[in-house]
Amino acid sequence: MQLHISPSLRHVTVLPAKGFKEFMKVKVGSRRFSYRMFFYSLLFFTFLLRFIFVLAALDNIDGDTKCSTIGCLGKKFGPRILRRRTEPTVPEVIYQVLEEPVNQDELQAGQEIPQSLEDFMVEIRYSRPDAKAFAEKLKAMVTLLEQRTRNAKIQEYLYRHVASSSIPKQLYCLTLRLANEHSTNANARLQLPSPELVPALVDNSFFHVVLASDNVLATSVVASSLVHNSLHPERVVLHIITDRKTYSPMQAWFSLNPLTPAIIEIKALHHFDWLTKGKVPVLEAMEKDQKVRSQFRGGSSAIVANNSEKPYVIAAKLQALSPKYNSPMNHIRIHLPELFPILNKVVFLDDDIVIQTDLSPLWDIDMNGKVNGAVETCRGEDKFVMSKRFKSYLNFSHPLVAKNFDPRECAWAYGMNIFDLEAWRKTNISQTYHFWLDENLKSDLSLWQLGTLPPGLIAFHGHVHFIDPFWHMLGLGYQENTTIEAAESAGVIHFNGRAKPWLDIAFPQLRPLWTKYINFSDKFIKSCHIRAS
Ligand SMILES: *[C@@H]1O[C@H](CO)[C@@H](O)[C@H](O)[C@H]1NC(C)=O
Ligand SMILES: *[C@@H]1O[C@H](CO)[C@@H](O)[C@H](O)[C@H]1NC(C)=O
Ligand SMILES: *[C@@H]1O[C@H](CO)[C@@H](O)[C@H](O)[C@H]1NC(C)=O
Ligand SMILES: *[C@@H]1O[C@H](CO)[C@@H](O)[C@H](O)[C@H]1NC(C)=O
Ligand SMILES: *[C@@H]1O[C@H](CO)[C@@H](O)[C@H](O)[C@H]1NC(C)=O
Repeated sequence: MQLHISPSLRHVTVLPAKGFKEFMKVKVGSRRFSYRMFFYSLLFFTFLLRFIFVLAALDNIDGDTKCSTIGCLGKKFGPRILRRRTEPTVPEVIYQVLEEPVNQDELQAGQEIPQSLEDFMVEIRYSRPDAKAFAEKLKAMVTLLEQRTRNAKIQEYLYRHVASSSIPKQLYCLTLRLANEHSTNANARLQLPSPELVPALVDNSFFHVVLASDNVLATSVVASSLVHNSLHPERVVLHIITDRKTYSPMQAWFSLNPLTPAIIEIKALHHFDWLTKGKVPVLEAMEKDQKVRSQFRGGSSAIVANNSEKPYVIAAKLQALSPKYNSPMNHIRIHLPELFPILNKVVFLDDDIVIQTDLSPLWDIDMNGKVNGAVETCRGEDKFVMSKRFKSYLNFSHPLVAKNFDPRECAWAYGMNIFDLEAWRKTNISQTYHFWLDENLKSDLSLWQLGTLPPGLIAFHGHVHFIDPFWHMLGLGYQENTTIEAAESAGVIHFNGRAKPWLDIAFPQLRPLWTKYINFSDKFIKSCHIRAS
């Protein structure tokens, strides 16, 4: 006999034995009753329906009461399918044993626990246990099965996380093909920008936009949406920062798709002098961060071992250990003044956005001496997305946080920010950032757990100038309530959240706003089967 349990726990399939054509599929629609109770019911149901000898065994246990009908045992345990007229004849001791809390030590020290229903029945058949022993064995087995399903559940939540953070195979394909093109085709290795345009890279009369990403397709969408909607593309300079492994695919892509007259520069992190010489706070911080995270809450095995925690909480805690949240690409924006020492003002973009308007008015905004022009995230029509205050990101139970910040202060968003680097250089923002990263590590990640926004909120505290929400519409990746009309009327849209437009889980009605900027006739896009829907 086999018992299949779908990871979502929605379907349980029992294949009674070889030779039986029928199988039972039990749909667990409602979550109102406990899984343990469900297993008990299922077990009884299966046994009683198919295996008479179990009935015989139970008859024995039961002693003087005759219990040979399905209904007799189905009562109380039985799911709807078993709800018939019954007499309460299951021995009281069985209920008692089953309802006692599970003693983990006993389980571990345990007698051999049957690993499957089959083993269980064989045992019952040969050992003819009394009611108490029967119930104990049953309970041990169910507990074991339950632990397995619980693990499956954790896996499922983690899988969802992986689905949103790992690279789908089409994007991986694109990277590989472009890397290959880079090595075989000289036209895919052009110096970007061409030498005569290099002076523009440090010329403050241009509009400088910075984008850090290791995703070529996403970067291409940001770049072409930026350039196509620009009123003065010849004055746009896009600085693309990427990592070592994505550098050649990225260079290949933009060599073959140059977006002239805009100027595009591509640099890997290791090309920045500032990042390669001496002690670099961001790299040091990441190294420490990795160390702390790997031991966070006793490490991943200790997190999984806590049986009283809900599977999704466990998955969330495991996520906190993920290196994704610790990539230099995420932390790099706190060092923009050092990375672009000559520039006065830059717009910094995330790679999950689409630009739908000319961005040049951003450079004209009077920032009142502030450093970071950002949209605030606590006011607006969309109550779900626009509900973020400091207390949403920082742990105000921690005295250090409570003492320094106001929980009701409005948060702001990363993803589309205008930074006044001149003003920034007069502050200690980067130092403050690293100071708090350190504090968080020292207190075992109890100030905040994930992401670069919480330390950003702290570091830029008092240095933020709120800009019109038109410049940055959030939430297209975590809720599908955004209407296409509303999204079309925003200057910049941001697919923040899991449902990235390059993933299968993207919201289909919003995805065209992104795919619009992909040329599906391109040979690399075609050969990697990247499709509009
Ligand atoms: C396990 O999780 C529960 C519920 O959140 C918590 O109260 C308990 O402290 C945790 N135990 C350990 C050892 O972490
Ligand atoms: C930055 O930090 C230094 C040393 O901690 C301090 O002397 C200086 O006043 C700070 N500058 C500003 C603008 O806060
Ligand atoms: C918040 O801070 C308090 C006090 O330090 C700590 O006990 C608690 O575990 C923290 N919460 C989280 C989620 O880290
Ligand atoms: C979407 O809108 C519906 C109806 O207004 C609402 O019930 C639901 O909570 C919203 N979902 C999100 C994620 O905001
Ligand atoms: C799309 O790609 C094809 C094939 O490379 C090319 O001929 C065409 O001009 C491109 N279209 C646009 C709008 O760039």
